[in-house]
Amino acid sequence: MNKPNDLTPAVIAADDTDSTSSNHFNAVLSARLSRRNMLRGGFATAATAVLGGMGLAGCGGSDDDPVMPPTTSPTPPAPAPAEKLLGFAAVPKSLADSVSVPAGYTATVLYALGDPLRASTPAYKNDGTDTDFDNRAGDHHDGMEFFALSATGTPSTTASDRGVLAMNHEATTDEKLSSHFLHANGGTTSLPRPAAEVDKEVAVHGISVVEVKKTGTTWATVNDSTFNRRITPLTDVEIGGPARGSALLVTKYSPDGTRTRGTLNNCGNGRTPWGTYLSGEENWSGYFARSATDDAARDAKSVASLRRYGRNQGATSRHGWETAGTDDKYQRWDISKKGASANGSDDYRNEMNGQGYIIEVDAYDKTKPAKKRSALGRFAHESAAFGIATAGQPLAVYMGDDSRNEYIYKFVSAAAWAAADATPTDRIATGDKYLDSGKLYVAKLNADGTGQWIELSMDNPQIKAYAAYQFADLADVVVNARLAADAVGATRMDRPEWCSVNPANGEIYYTLTNNSNRNVNPSGSSQLAPDAANPRAYTDMKGSSAQNGNPNGHIIRFKEGTGAGAATTFQWDVYLFGAESGADATKINLSSLTADQDFSSPDGLAFLKSTGICWIQTDDGAYTDVTNCMMLAALPGQVGDGAKTTLTYDKADGSKLAVDTFVGKKATPDTLKRFLVGPVGSEITGITETPDGKALFVNIQHPGESTSLANIADPTKYTSQWPSNAGYGPGKRPRSATIVITKNDGGRIGT
Ligand code: FEO
Ligand code: CA
Ligand code: CA
Repeated sequence: MNKPNDLTPAVIAADDTDSTSSNHFNAVLSARLSRRNMLRGGFATAATAVLGGMGLAGCGGSDDDPVMPPTTSPTPPAPAPAEKLLGFAAVPKSLADSVSVPAGYTATVLYALGDPLRASTPAYKNDGTDTDFDNRAGDHHDGMEFFALSATGTPSTTASDRGVLAMNHEATTDEKLSSHFLHANGGTTSLPRPAAEVDKEVAVHGISVVEVKKTGTTWATVNDSTFNRRITPLTDVEIGGPARGSALLVTKYSPDGTRTRGTLNNCGNGRTPWGTYLSGEENWSGYFARSATDDAARDAKSVASLRRYGRNQGATSRHGWETAGTDDKYQRWDISKKGASANGSDDYRNEMNGQGYIIEVDAYDKTKPAKKRSALGRFAHESAAFGIATAGQPLAVYMGDDSRNEYIYKFVSAAAWAAADATPTDRIATGDKYLDSGKLYVAKLNADGTGQWIELSMDNPQIKAYAAYQFADLADVVVNARLAADAVGATRMDRPEWCSVNPANGEIYYTLTNNSNRNVNPSGSSQLAPDAANPRAYTDMKGSSAQNGNPNGHIIRFKEGTGAGAATTFQWDVYLFGAESGADATKINLSSLTADQDFSSPDGLAFLKSTGICWIQTDDGAYTDVTNCMMLAALPGQVGDGAKTTLTYDKADGSKLAVDTFVGKKATPDTLKRFLVGPVGSEITGITETPDGKALFVNIQHPGESTSLANIADPTKYTSQWPSNAGYGPGKRPRSATIVITKNDGGRIGT
């Protein structure tokens, strides 16, 4: 079924000896096709296949699998071995079109693009003829969160056999305009785009909420659950916080600036202490078009704002949705000033100001409208991670802006945390309390390993007096947070992606995925020299192509100063530098990663509660000549546990550039290990667990992404056929999907 992986003998030995218990084999026999595959395939496929739920049924029943050990042994089960975190055998790097997990684990496909959420929606055919995507799983699964449900369907913090998954659907696979796997012939790659194609493409974006349930040892989605819900780019949502009712949010759809339609390019996520889902709107700017003469039609401030957020006049949109007809739902994607009104209530000139937020969703209650929390700023959001909530203290929310040379932010609530709010009757109203008023800060990282959080508000003289953009009020500051951060001289980073807080000590970890614009000899306005917090600029070869800057990325971490979440100072160091294990250890592989640990372009990152393990996921294009994207498990130490290092560069003018940085304690096989490798063309993103830590949900985004539209009729030319090649669903078109990972001995994931 799956291609074999080049597993080391050590992996096989571990799998074949990891459980001496006959229970182990009984459990495997009862439900695990993967185990049968493993035995069928012998050593070559040990421990790695990901199975489709539908594939299980299709391949079930009688089979001719050989060589099972006797199952009638009277020997009582041996006691389970003592749990050891990261006790699994590392998964080797792989280019196979499959998901690899460690020996002793099973991964099963649970929820893929197009899966129906309603009984009335037909099964997914996966041939480009499917419709009704408002009632199906969206595309490009990304950040997600498990919200446990009791047996009676009420919110729980302990139930581990039933829950709802709230999940981002970031984007859809395109080559030119069309999302080619969604359309029978690959779709239309010229303008205008047909409305029927656009309607499908819009609907696969946004968020889904789907009930999942464990029966025996098998997880499945609950079709037609009353919890199932889709939020798409057309769903009515509310604006909360300082931008609510602002002139900047006035549109034809919402003349009073209090609402907008939908959520877009949802990437990282978060979970509030009161049990709601947060979703970050990331690369929304590219979906909007502007006419080539729009600058002259509008005021200078709005032009400055549009440029800072990536929409120069003449910008074309990613999919051309604005060309699908005169209907308002298509016209809103053209943000040119077209109307005669002074305030924009007759067109969509301000429409883009409705995107770029952290949006809050009550996954337990689909009657509650989603709400955008504008106080947390508008930028290319990734995750939103809460600091440890302490009664009587304000809440801190950490965030990053994923674009080259953008910033790291935090929001500190005005309200002090009340423990009773952990189980409120109205969760969205609790969100109003904590997320609509507070202070937004941006990070400045100093060369000596310290840093400051700088407040972004009209109280800051640097913002009030900023000549390049005259801020009107706090709404203007949060809507144009990037400009406000420019005004205060914040530190430009190597693409801040996800962040997460270590529950053991409250330290904050940020992935900095990569940056092709770091250069020892910077030129133009977009390139920056390496600095202490972004210290690497080097060349990595991918075949014959040179990748410059910081192609492998790093993970930085902060320790708050006095005041914990409300602190305005912090200490930082670099927890890990991504690198190839064979790269120069003095300049590139500064964390001394081994072949079991090496990674490139960290993106998803989350400490999970059950074990405290820090899971690191990659979205890479630099090391993909050697391995597909992956997920690693880590047990980090703390800020300051390593040493200062000086990187010395030769500049073009013959002088030297010396950059001091702070490298965390080097990882060991007991503190960092590769856990999973994904199929061809995929990124690994999104992770959540059941409260008992025994089921781990992970998203496999855009397998086969590089497949050319020209090859749509020839599946043999698809770069990936996952998950159909794992037995899940019809057709051979690749599909983004959620997998669930369990341990064959019933233990916690990562042990
Ligand atoms: Fe959607 Fe920055 O990853
Ligand atoms: Ca390389
Ligand atoms: Ca991401």
